[in-house]
Amino acid sequence: MTSSRAPGPAPAASDSALHRALQIVRRTLWSVAFFSFFINLLALTSSLYMLQVYDRVLASRSLPTLLYLTLFAAGCLATLALLEVVRSRLLVRMGVRFDAQLSGLVFRRTLQGGRTAQPLRDLDQLRNFFAGPTTLSLLDAPWMPVYIGLVYLLHPWLGHVALAGGVLLLGLGLWNERATRRPLTEAGQEMSASAQFAELSGRNAEVVQAMGMVPALSRVWRLRHDYALGLQGLASDEAANVAGVAKAFRLFLQVAILAVGAWLVILQQSTAGVMIASSIVMGRALAPLESAIGGWRGFLGAREAYRRLSQDLQAVADERPAMPLPRPTGELVFDGVSAGPPEARHFTVQGLQFRVAPGVCLGITGPSAAGKSTLARLAMGVWRPGVGVVRLDGVDIAAWRREDVGPALGYLPQDIELFPGTVASNIARFGEPDPEQVVEAARLAGAHAMILTLPQGYDTPIGPAGANLSGGQRQRIGLARAFYGQPALVVLDEPTSNLDAEGEAAVRQAMEALKAAGRTVVVIAHRPALLAGTDQLMVVVDGRIASLGPTAEVMPAITRRVMAQPEGRDLGALGVAHG
Ligand SMILES: Nc1ncnc2c1ncn2[C@@H]1O[C@H](COP(=O)(O)OP(=O)(O)OP(=O)(O)O)[C@@H](O)[C@H]1O
Ligand SMILES: [Mg+2]
Repeated sequence: MTSSRAPGPAPAASDSALHRALQIVRRTLWSVAFFSFFINLLALTSSLYMLQVYDRVLASRSLPTLLYLTLFAAGCLATLALLEVVRSRLLVRMGVRFDAQLSGLVFRRTLQGGRTAQPLRDLDQLRNFFAGPTTLSLLDAPWMPVYIGLVYLLHPWLGHVALAGGVLLLGLGLWNERATRRPLTEAGQEMSASAQFAELSGRNAEVVQAMGMVPALSRVWRLRHDYALGLQGLASDEAANVAGVAKAFRLFLQVAILAVGAWLVILQQSTAGVMIASSIVMGRALAPLESAIGGWRGFLGAREAYRRLSQDLQAVADERPAMPLPRPTGELVFDGVSAGPPEARHFTVQGLQFRVAPGVCLGITGPSAAGKSTLARLAMGVWRPGVGVVRLDGVDIAAWRREDVGPALGYLPQDIELFPGTVASNIARFGEPDPEQVVEAARLAGAHAMILTLPQGYDTPIGPAGANLSGGQRQRIGLARAFYGQPALVVLDEPTSNLDAEGEAAVRQAMEALKAAGRTVVVIAHRPALLAGTDQLMVVVDGRIASLGPTAEVMPAITRRVMAQPEGRDLGALGVAHG
């Protein structure tokens, strides 16, 4: 399961990271196999000791021989213990390095995909498997032929018994694999789907509580969960059957080999020592097979986790080793852009062509689902255009390294989520907060006074997703975060949706201040009062630019149209006017 990539296009950075991580695993497993060699040799101590005691000491009645043999055996076993310790330490460190190689990337993937923590769980599962007991027993498996050969050396007939036993156990293992693979794989998929469902429902806990959706959601969840459990049960039953048969069979093999041994002793072709030693050696030979049968479920789970993980990592936007560019001045150009959500096949905005110069404020309005937020995401480089290019200072925004361009961008999304941390670190985007800049951004956003009324001011901790703040407070802090660090391009998606008149006035002032400082500002809004403060106004309808021009010209035309609407004074009604 390590390296079977089909030849194809050059691997993305993420792909090679998984590759590198697996290389670490492979390299460590080689050293572990090396240690396993000596561990396996030393594990023969007790059987050899028994052979010597039975056949030599008891026959010769020599106490010194017994003493030396015992001391030698004790020394061997102490070495064995030491090697076991080293081996498991190697495995633990391998797990840590494997994790270190991938966890950053996987975490980023989780942030980009923005759905659930499944990739992180997959990574955990994979790491635990690699460092776990099944891997060890699989590493012991190559020793099987050696052990069986050893039994043959003791006596050919004993060897036949051990070999036949090994072949039959192998057959049981294959039966296990065939019978459990499909249901276990499916059960794993269903399990992770139901875990994701629970995770996502948990995020909407308030809605769920308020509208009494708990029973209905539980029902949906139960259904999926039960189905997964059913499949798992099916597979486990089958696996238990095989494991039971395998265990009984292996115990019976011990009886069989002792019986054959005793028979040989009676025929005087062998000794009691050989009889007992062969039974121990055969036990060791077959143990990896038995534990592989027992641990097969872990193996299948890990394989599934690996499949999901490599798929997920393929989807990670490959990090370009782009040349660092000077800080942008904020000129925004949409050059024939058509685009849609990352996973959709259709475009939700089409043929967008416009330019916003630094120091200019562009207002965007239009009916719901017209594509305004899509445009904002494109301007921020969050989504990539399917056709055309979005340029910042003449450079394709996708070509900028995020770390370079991010600080020069200010984005207030329509749904504001804050992160667990203090108000100050949220405003400072979790970088090292510069107190002066934090306060400056908060003042610009009209949030400073509000923040000072919080229990610990700027050091007030914010709960998950900003749960302990009001909608307006969240929006003000979100604005301050967008303004932090004097960004060259600021995109505000409905910045006043939760604000009172005072907050709206603050946003208008901020727009003026940003313009005066030569920043590029894009504001998506419905309210005429806010849009009146823009220089250019764009009306988006059905994913296309319906009109674009100086606000002084576009505004009167659309207000006339909107005023003609019975419902009134919201520019969102434009779609009706256009349609
Ligand atoms: N994450 C997404 N996944 C799939 N489709 C999406 C996603 N976001 C938006 N869309 C679709 O894209 C279209 C444009 O949505 P967008 O959010 O840009 O509208 P909008 O103009 O911002 O509307 P509103 O005024 O309601 O915020 C809609 O048809 C919507 O269904
Ligand atoms: Mg929107």
